Amino acid sequence: MTIEITGVGSVLPGRVMTNRELEGMVDTSDEWIRERTGIRERRIAGEDTVVSLAAKACERALEDAGKKAADVDLILLATCSPEMLLPCCACQVQSLIGAEKAVCFDLNAACSGFLFALDTAYAYIRSGLYRNALVVGSEVLSKLVDWSDRGTCILFGDGAGAVFVEEAQPGAGILSIVQGSNGFQGSVLSCGAKGGEPIRMEGKEVYRFATRQVPECIEEAVHRAGLSLGEIDLFLLHQANLRILESIGKRLKVPMEKIPVNLDRVGNMSSAAIPVLLDETQKCGKIKKGQRIVLSGFGAGLTYGACVMIWGR
Ligand code: UT7
Repeated sequence: MTIEITGVGSVLPGRVMTNRELEGMVDTSDEWIRERTGIRERRIAGEDTVVSLAAKACERALEDAGKKAADVDLILLATCSPEMLLPCCACQVQSLIGAEKAVCFDLNAACSGFLFALDTAYAYIRSGLYRNALVVGSEVLSKLVDWSDRGTCILFGDGAGAVFVEEAQPGAGILSIVQGSNGFQGSVLSCGAKGGEPIRMEGKEVYRFATRQVPECIEEAVHRAGLSLGEIDLFLLHQANLRILESIGKRLKVPMEKIPVNLDRVGNMSSAAIPVLLDETQKCGKIKKGQRIVLSGFGAGLTYGACVMIWGR
């Protein structure tokens, strides 16, 4: 038995912050940001919160799946930027959308958070404890950023994405999962709790880690699925930096046509990156029934993971 994604939804805040606007805040340029990262603009939450964005994404995922909030058994919300620690964001989403019987909790694995939450849902549903889950990645990173640090403030954006998962139809669903953590290198990307240190990053170290670890992890997940890299139709990867995506593509010998990119419009949205990309890629008709898809993320912790699935809808 395995699980498949049967509904997807996402939401981006309305306010767009362009690279030009950042030129007025720190010593940077549109050209530098585009060349080094591929990012042109990002969204900033304003009045929206991790919870309000997540609730909207969940409602859209439920609608897409043709399900009601009352049907939901489990809500797993991945975030590293909660406005409140208690109650957890997932419980707040539960009350906003009216998912009366759902068991709800948050999970923090930074940019790998959505993937780790999906893996957790997989384990729960396979165990028979729950029949379905809403898996959400939601971030308001603009609150955690030091807007005077040009090394980080140009990278991040806000948004949320969610999927509804349930037992897979024959021939569809998750085939393999690989996860990893390396707490020994945790200091290269850190952020304090509320009121503490903003996001601090040794960009080059994170870059090196991502371009080495992610291809290895994808290769292992594809191997465990009994497939070869050439048999994969799409690679939906964490959107941190276009150069990282290109380097991963090069190492795996995968053409960029198979690696969708949206970071130019949204920046790095941490745990929200993969589900938002999934939603956008699906909505523009790029994902087709029966295709083999890899999801892969990496981030603070350090954490990383990949999963291989067959798209069933
Ligand atoms: O979700 C996971 C989280 N993070 C990541 O995946 C980030 C991974 N790392 C990266 O994407 C890249 O390392 C960055 C985009 C953060 C930085 O790019 P880089 O090519 O590694 O640049 P660098 O840090 O080596 O800096 C090169 C130069 C430095 O100046 P000097 O020392 O050569 O004079 C920096 O001070 O660029 C300077 N610099 C900037 N200049 C203009 C750094 N940030 C900026 C900026 N605008 N925003």
